[in-house]
Amino acid sequence: MIEKVYTDYFFDEPAYDYHDAGYVPLEVADAPEKPLAVPPLLEPDKIDGDDIYYTVTAEAGETQLLPGAKTKTWGYNGTLLSPTIRFENGKHYHVTLRNELPELTTFHWHGLNVSGPYVDGGCHAPVYPGEEKQIEFTLNQPAAMCWLHAHPCPSTAEQVWHGLAGIVYVTDKHEQTLVVPHEYGVDDIPLVLQDRRFHENNQWDYRADYDPDGVAGPTAMLNGTVRPYFDVTTTKLRLRMLDGANRREWRLHLSGDRPFTQIASDGSYLPEPVQLTKVMMTCAERVQIVIDFADCKPGDTVTLYTDDAPLMTFRIHEFAKQNAELPAHLLDIQAPTVNPQTPVRRIVMSGMDETVAIDGKKFQMDRIDAQQPIGQAQYWDIVNTNDKPGMVHPFHCHGTQFLVVSRNGKAPYPNEHGYKDTMGVNPGETVRLLVRFDLPGVYMYHCHIIEHEDGGMMAQIETYDPSKPRPHYELMTMDKLMQALSEERGVPMDQLWMGGMASYEAMGMKM
Ligand code: C2O
Ligand code: CU
Ligand code: CU
Repeated sequence: MIEKVYTDYFFDEPAYDYHDAGYVPLEVADAPEKPLAVPPLLEPDKIDGDDIYYTVTAEAGETQLLPGAKTKTWGYNGTLLSPTIRFENGKHYHVTLRNELPELTTFHWHGLNVSGPYVDGGCHAPVYPGEEKQIEFTLNQPAAMCWLHAHPCPSTAEQVWHGLAGIVYVTDKHEQTLVVPHEYGVDDIPLVLQDRRFHENNQWDYRADYDPDGVAGPTAMLNGTVRPYFDVTTTKLRLRMLDGANRREWRLHLSGDRPFTQIASDGSYLPEPVQLTKVMMTCAERVQIVIDFADCKPGDTVTLYTDDAPLMTFRIHEFAKQNAELPAHLLDIQAPTVNPQTPVRRIVMSGMDETVAIDGKKFQMDRIDAQQPIGQAQYWDIVNTNDKPGMVHPFHCHGTQFLVVSRNGKAPYPNEHGYKDTMGVNPGETVRLLVRFDLPGVYMYHCHIIEHEDGGMMAQIETYDPSKPRPHYELMTMDKLMQALSEERGVPMDQLWMGGMASYEAMGMKM
């Protein structure tokens, strides 16, 4: 039995209530309610024992989002977002990455423990229009909800805004023994939370909406559905939620302050379920919750809100299924030990608007900022130097799942005891993480407000095997990227526009 019900967001209220010039409140769209789109599961091209083959194609198209004109959107294997990709721990995957967009993109596996920089798919792994690339990897990590998104910095934010984001599940043997809702589309549904501004003719216009502190819009979109409802036919419903917005945090709660149970965070289940009435998600974080509707009767509705804005309605029907009680224990997590001789790494996130930086510097694609041997656990202190009120910067690192050790020397929040790859840092706060890499490579770490990342609040670490010679990594350069984009867009170099550019220029820097 879980007794304690937490009733706060934990995060620093003045920080998240701080609505600087760019903050856009949500409004209820002038559109009828629609059933929530639940993406289909992506079918493999081929299964050959433990070798599984998939193709992921980035493409452009049109999607009916509002009544009237369709919206020009981008997606994976479809016109918007992506089918759900389900990977199994221990299996060997071969993925063909195809780019049918008019410009280069990359395929980043956010949260997957795969080698960087090429398989990981950050900015060093471009796939040019009309081309394809093969990657392969063996998964070695616990069950989790991860995601796939474009990452051609400094155009990451714009491409994600166009729709290049998809859901990736990792499942494992342990998860299959847990009695938790897992019937896809019935009592286990993914929920990608995003927001957009619809301009004339129902179109998105990233450049018009550009804000260096993150682009937001007044219309919420869940799995690409505006004003969704979901038909509940089971006593319990599991939501696997992803903050897929460029900058918006979601402060989620249910009507009637109905409690819910969080069972997983970014990179794994929590050790124990945690009961809450509120949960805040910062960009790129994942939160999996189970809602119990057993006390409801057919015809009832329950609403999911962020702040005062309704996001989605659960319409209760006759229950076709009675779910079992959730287990009291979900996952054993063993924190790796840190050698006391190993210095604590300090990473400082500073600035707002165009001045954002990591350790006082803006990102340079061909500069390695830090190094760490694989297999060695280290403490990382992530510092947000913003004064209050300021922004919560969600810190993310590729190629690892870390543990949160403390916040300003105090215990982490009760729902932060699982593996994570993204974590909100309050203004004036230092969060201590326990970080270990298993694979050698080059990995980016950055603020996941995507415009901050594009604006240079990003750095990269090389992880290495001390017993082997260092491999050479072919790193992308800004010149190469700009040349390619200028050709693809048919725009001369000096007229090329990319969101993050202004942030570099404002500080008198080249990208
Ligand atoms: Cu969601 Cu650099 O990643
Ligand atoms: Cu990532
Ligand atoms: Cu930030």
